Amino acid sequence: MSANTIDINQRMNRFDRHHSVWLFGYGSLIYKADFPFIQRRPARIHHWVRRFWQGSHDHRGTPEAPGRVLTLASQPGAVCEGMAYLITPQEFEHLDRREKNGYLRLATAIEFADGEQVEGLFYVAREDNSAYLGPATETEIAAQIAAAQGPSGSNRDYVLHLATALRQLGEDDAHVFAIERYLNNRGTD
Ligand code: SIN
Repeated sequence: MSANTIDINQRMNRFDRHHSVWLFGYGSLIYKADFPFIQRRPARIHHWVRRFWQGSHDHRGTPEAPGRVLTLASQPGAVCEGMAYLITPQEFEHLDRREKNGYLRLATAIEFADGEQVEGLFYVAREDNSAYLGPATETEIAAQIAAAQGPSGSNRDYVLHLATALRQLGEDDAHVFAIERYLNNRGTD
């Protein structure tokens, strides 16, 4: 599958007739809401974990030196905490462009803190997209992130902003915090 998913995602019309739909964010969508929303609520999805396994050619890296950004890996029983936004379907015009580098906009069950469940959407980059980098050790991931930057800023800032936002949500994400620790120990080299 090509890395540019805009055309595929714009055919995802399941919620087009709805006045509003919930979008679950687990990465930059937690801390960078550059779109109008009606409401925002901390939420979680089940059976997924955050992993820095997706290459970024367009935001936090370049085609020659890709950064590493988050996608989700399937893990039965796991819980991934994040932020859900109630938005109108018109916002997908912008969001599909923002998340174009390999992410598919798919339906998912979203659960709020009070146990209420809704069907909504998330963006997930699967192994079959050409920007996918896959697993590496946390040291290797941190080294690649420390060296990468792109039009949206340094890859390091992506991690540091995310780690701060996760702490504000009360989330203890061992993978993200380990990479943050490596980055802080390396300084800015
Ligand atoms: C997300 O935040 O939900 C998707 C991945 C990203 O944009 O960092």
